[in-house]
Amino acid sequence: MGLLSKIFSNTRKPEGFWGKMMVAGMNGGFHAEMASWGLDFGNVPAEGEILDIGCGGGANLKRLMQRSLKGKMTGVDYSPVSVQKSAKVNAAAIKEGRCQVLSANVAQLPFSDDTFSMATAFETIYFWPDIEKSFAEVRRVLVPGGKFLIVNEEDGLSGNNEKWEKIIDGMHTYTPDEVKKHLAAAGFQNIKIHRNEPKHWLAVTGVK
Ligand SMILES: C[S@@+](CC[C@H](N)C(=O)[O-])C[C@H]1O[C@@H](n2cnc3c(N)ncnc32)[C@H](O)[C@@H]1O
Repeated sequence: MGLLSKIFSNTRKPEGFWGKMMVAGMNGGFHAEMASWGLDFGNVPAEGEILDIGCGGGANLKRLMQRSLKGKMTGVDYSPVSVQKSAKVNAAAIKEGRCQVLSANVAQLPFSDDTFSMATAFETIYFWPDIEKSFAEVRRVLVPGGKFLIVNEEDGLSGNNEKWEKIIDGMHTYTPDEVKKHLAAAGFQNIKIHRNEPKHWLAVTGVK
């Protein structure tokens, strides 16, 4: 594996030194602008239980709490490095009982059916196993009427996707139509696509 692949494979599952560097980077400037753009389409509820899947460095848990002043956040990630960083970044909210961060794979979420009013996935579905089963698992834990927001900085139409897929083992960049098709197959309704075409950013919402 080349150094570039070694470094960037930490976007899929942050591990060790480069993983720590990567989660710190995920919380930085560029992701911030895109995450805020995507969140505007989420209509984040003012209260209730909200789940952020693949929470990485935890910056989006913070952003969600700023938009949902009475909401309770749960972040999950299957990388121990990400879980540790998210917990550190949100330590005050965890202490107040407003936030928890757990180790979990989207393929098998450790929650009962009908738990969350909203679920979010920033920059992470590229790496999920069996995408329709993963989407169905997200749907299972949403309450009826609950919303799922997906935000990706790469919409699969930029011409860069093959480059990234070669560098990052196990990555797949989904086009807007593919995301829509897989969400519908998993049972989501009222699916809406939002795009920043020049930047190739993609935000998709679906309702249980
Ligand atoms: C590129 S990072 C994005 C982190 C954060 N959402 C953000 O936007 O800054 C992708 C994250 O998704 C996590 N991830 C990937 N596949 C996952 C899975 N199957 N279950 C849970 N987390 C996953 C990775 O460990 C990593 O922390």
